[in-house]
Amino acid sequence: MEKMGRNDPCWCGSGKKYKTCHMLFDEKIHHYELQGHIVPKRRMIKSKEQIQGIKDSSVINIAVLDAVEKMIGPGVTTQQIDDLVHDMTVDMGGLPATLNYEGFPKSVCTSIDEVVCHGIPSSEEILKEGDIVNVDVSTLYKGYYSDSSRMFCIGEVSAEKRKLVQVTKECVEKGLAMVKPWNFLGDMAQAVNDHAKANGYSVVVDIGGHGVGLEFHEEPFVSYVTKAGTEMLMAPGMVFTIEPMVNMGTCEIYIDDDDGWTVRTEDGKPSAQWEVTVAVTDEGYEILTY
Ligand code: MF3
Ligand code: CO
Repeated sequence: MEKMGRNDPCWCGSGKKYKTCHMLFDEKIHHYELQGHIVPKRRMIKSKEQIQGIKDSSVINIAVLDAVEKMIGPGVTTQQIDDLVHDMTVDMGGLPATLNYEGFPKSVCTSIDEVVCHGIPSSEEILKEGDIVNVDVSTLYKGYYSDSSRMFCIGEVSAEKRKLVQVTKECVEKGLAMVKPWNFLGDMAQAVNDHAKANGYSVVVDIGGHGVGLEFHEEPFVSYVTKAGTEMLMAPGMVFTIEPMVNMGTCEIYIDDDDGWTVRTEDGKPSAQWEVTVAVTDEGYEILTY
């Protein structure tokens, strides 16, 4: 870490003097670092302006998911969802962040039942009564990324699957409750994992959340299977996603060989996911998308 003079302008770009801005913050981080903890890099700490940029992006992200909620149902194809996400995002001045991202061909991920994530919308894929589907929307607006996903129950859904959807949502809420400065990402992860396990479910290990904002996927990698007191220290200004994938059966997954994207459960049992983008504040957290 670069040493700064007390009266130098702060590294965060606020224009304030270092001593009245992030000096105590840096001392605190250093203290944790000396104890052997993983600590956030300066580049992971967003300014107020940057967080406002992510919030503006989130306005589109949320509006798009609200619109999906209104049109989704039995008989709707996942391509129709893709069209809506694409057109509405562009109409509002944004871009769908997944489109052409590392070759992903569509504007949204739609993941039904045993599909864990990264399902590719298709005009051949028709939603039917009893399906549970995750719609994952990522938005780029004026240089800022936002990312969130929701589960939808299509028509009458079995009590078993409805419970999976509900418990997964609760997992995100339990995780959020642990988001505050000077807690660890592992505190959040353990809260998520404990709740899933208590309900007889497993949490996917190999795919997780991520820092987000200036890039679609930033450091740190955010796991939901790590232990309290471990992983990166949380500090005000960090922005990341909480997006656990919770499986009814095994946590083992595989990627579809044919399309190179679709992730499925190894045992074919259903999987659910909810995703929020969250900022660590001075007091606790603020949800930017839901
Ligand atoms: N939206 C997903 C996430 O939560 C990322 C999808 S990347 C894609 O991180 F290429 F598969 F779309
Ligand atoms: Co994400």
